[in-house]
Amino acid sequence: MSPGPRLVVLDEADAVADHAAAHIVGKLAPKPDLVLGLPTGETPRGIYARLAGAYRTGEVSFARASSFNLDEYQGLPPDHPASYHAYMREMLFRYVDIDPARTHLPDGLASDATAEGRRYEKAIAEAGGIGLMVLGIGGNGHIGFNEPGSPFDSRTRAVRLTEATREANRRSFPEGETVPEFAITMGIATILEAREILLVATGPAKAEALAAALAGPETLRCPASVLRRHPAVTIVCDTAAAAGIRLRA
Ligand code: F6R
Repeated sequence: MSPGPRLVVLDEADAVADHAAAHIVGKLAPKPDLVLGLPTGETPRGIYARLAGAYRTGEVSFARASSFNLDEYQGLPPDHPASYHAYMREMLFRYVDIDPARTHLPDGLASDATAEGRRYEKAIAEAGGIGLMVLGIGGNGHIGFNEPGSPFDSRTRAVRLTEATREANRRSFPEGETVPEFAITMGIATILEAREILLVATGPAKAEALAAALAGPETLRCPASVLRRHPAVTIVCDTAAAAGIRLRA
């Protein structure tokens, strides 16, 4: 039996970003060829800013690291401002010495999503598997874009986004543009194969999902609940996101 996720609760989002960035630097510095799994979204912005700072001050180098992002919208070209390709360039890649050839995201324009999923899985395997997978969590408990109901043995594939997820992500899209209905995401099995997982959650909108993930039953209805199967999960969150766990405890 694994001891279950290690939970770190901090006062506020800034402290969460400090802690998560220090965790990543602490893994990357002694293992410069670390393979990272990376999320996008609001939550990791502060983490990426701190990683860029750690690179600037010479604390860490990404020169030998590789990265695989969790997901990308289907139909968005890499230069679309709301694409996750653009997000990663703007939030992290342009500020650090990572080799662009070793940064990977699913191709949202791939005409055959099944083949793209296979290609992505093969690339992860060829890189030696993901060493440290960083995750956010959706208000509905999704990890990556594995929405409620996603099979626990799922692999990288095309998925339909829920209305709740599209609504939550609308803020990243230019006025008048619709949020894509589909995305390509690593599967739950892909995520679980990472050697270590760091999940980050901030704000009251994550409280219910986090409580369900940690204290509810393991269920397809809350994809993050599967993380309790993994032997090396750290969850870093603020008190607002942890509020539901306390209520249940
Ligand atoms: C993004 C991803 C998603 C987000 C989640 C939380 O690449 O995989 O699972 O981590 O939707 O998003 P934010 O941080 O915007 O609340």
